[in-house]
Amino acid sequence: MLHPILEALGLAEHNPGSTLGNGAWADSRTEPLLEVFNPSTGLKLATVSSASEQEQEQLMHAATQAFLAWRELPAPRRGEGIRLCAEALRRHKGALGSLVSLEMGKVKAEGDGEVQEMIDIADFAVGQSRMLYGLTMHSERPGHRMYEQWHPLGLVGIISAFNFPVAVWAWNAFIAAVCGDVSIWKPSPRTPLSAIAATRICNAALKAGGFPEVFFLLNAAGTARAERLVDDARVPLVSFTGSTSVGRQVAVRVAQRLGRSLLELGGNNAIIVDATADLKLAIPAIVFGAVGTAGQRCTSTRRLIVHESILDDVVAKLTAAYAQVRTRIGDPLEAGTLMGPLIDAAAVKRFEATVERARAAGARVVSGGKALERPGHFVEPTLITGVSPTDAWVQEETFAPILYVMPYRTLDEAIAHQNGVPQGLSSSVFTRDFQTTERFLSASGSDCGIANVNIGTSGAEIGGAFGGEKDTGGGRESGSDAWKAYMRRQTNTLNASNALPLAQGIRFDL
Ligand code: UN1
Repeated sequence: MLHPILEALGLAEHNPGSTLGNGAWADSRTEPLLEVFNPSTGLKLATVSSASEQEQEQLMHAATQAFLAWRELPAPRRGEGIRLCAEALRRHKGALGSLVSLEMGKVKAEGDGEVQEMIDIADFAVGQSRMLYGLTMHSERPGHRMYEQWHPLGLVGIISAFNFPVAVWAWNAFIAAVCGDVSIWKPSPRTPLSAIAATRICNAALKAGGFPEVFFLLNAAGTARAERLVDDARVPLVSFTGSTSVGRQVAVRVAQRLGRSLLELGGNNAIIVDATADLKLAIPAIVFGAVGTAGQRCTSTRRLIVHESILDDVVAKLTAAYAQVRTRIGDPLEAGTLMGPLIDAAAVKRFEATVERARAAGARVVSGGKALERPGHFVEPTLITGVSPTDAWVQEETFAPILYVMPYRTLDEAIAHQNGVPQGLSSSVFTRDFQTTERFLSASGSDCGIANVNIGTSGAEIGGAFGGEKDTGGGRESGSDAWKAYMRRQTNTLNASNALPLAQGIRFDL
């Protein structure tokens, strides 16, 4: 039976998965179907067709044509198209938020929050469409003028992960669209329905406003379609969100053809809690950061570095909070649920294996540690103490609600622990001390792309540039000047004099 949430968005038991431009969809029956499961029950929700190689080629052709027309529209007109997308998303917020929650397993408030994040970035992109500023420079030659301008880049490949099935696409696709680009989205094979619904809503909004279709969707099982997209020289920019190991392969393959990649890879985010911290703020921030989205955000809090003088108090308070959360694990669509399931059975296995490894090496599981005996992929929120910052499992990102708690004595030591992992996405300190704050934010403080004070590691606003260093991949998306990645910069020098002076004073007399 078709789930009512799918029905509300016009989805069916079987759905064509990929766009071919101008409202056409590909529905190949030669390729293996994508089967979509509800992570809360393990039951099948629907199927989606996988694009064939030939359909991918058709899509590429249609996207190339769409780009040639779209790049000619003035940027503020393109912004108007995205404004219509934002309005449509406002109308569909509840329905799309529910679908994200159903398909991915995050709680309804977070599903709605994800759609809000799409609306926010759309609004941001509308403003940005009037601010694609270049600089002017003073030429060293008389009667000459120099400036730079930003042109549309072309086709942008967006490969996104299951944990943010729609928002991360919107960060990329809306900014790319106002920049004059056309995007091709390869979503996670675990969340194709949210991708279909989001693409339909936005393309329909464009169509109703008299705009062409600029959001292309490429759903496929396996990796062949994504690999082809990554290797395709017609795609000057590939934006990839996912694991560090896959991101490394994407970076190498895109670099091989001298394309650009924008990488948002793993995080291993820590919160430092010093002896002056306001625990009324710190405890809820830690709990939301560690158990929110069942620990499946790239910004999830995975490590807690606590001043030794307050360690016992913090662990006691967290244990009490975790006991509360444990009573509110369940159907993510039910009001009052705080934690939904992991995405699939393999994720539960990885959770169990990590807890087991830590336990076998002498770590203490002070709360949780087990998968729940019930249908769906539920695990307990888990607190682990007695670990060393250099333990292999502490160094790795396990996409699950596991929090490692470690004591520190000096701030130098805390910062060294915080930075002492391969990843560099998000970080926080809870403190009332000015010097600690400034040290944490200084050049010798946090080495992450995101460094917060008295708020947690996750839940970033769209207005800032989002991304991180080291194994996180170095990419920046979303706000600030992240738009520049989606455009090509051209430097122009114009001579309005009657002479031809050469730069650097070079004489070349004929
Ligand atoms: C991600 O987990 O891939 O900061 C993105 C946050 C969200 C985005 C996370 N705004 O948690």
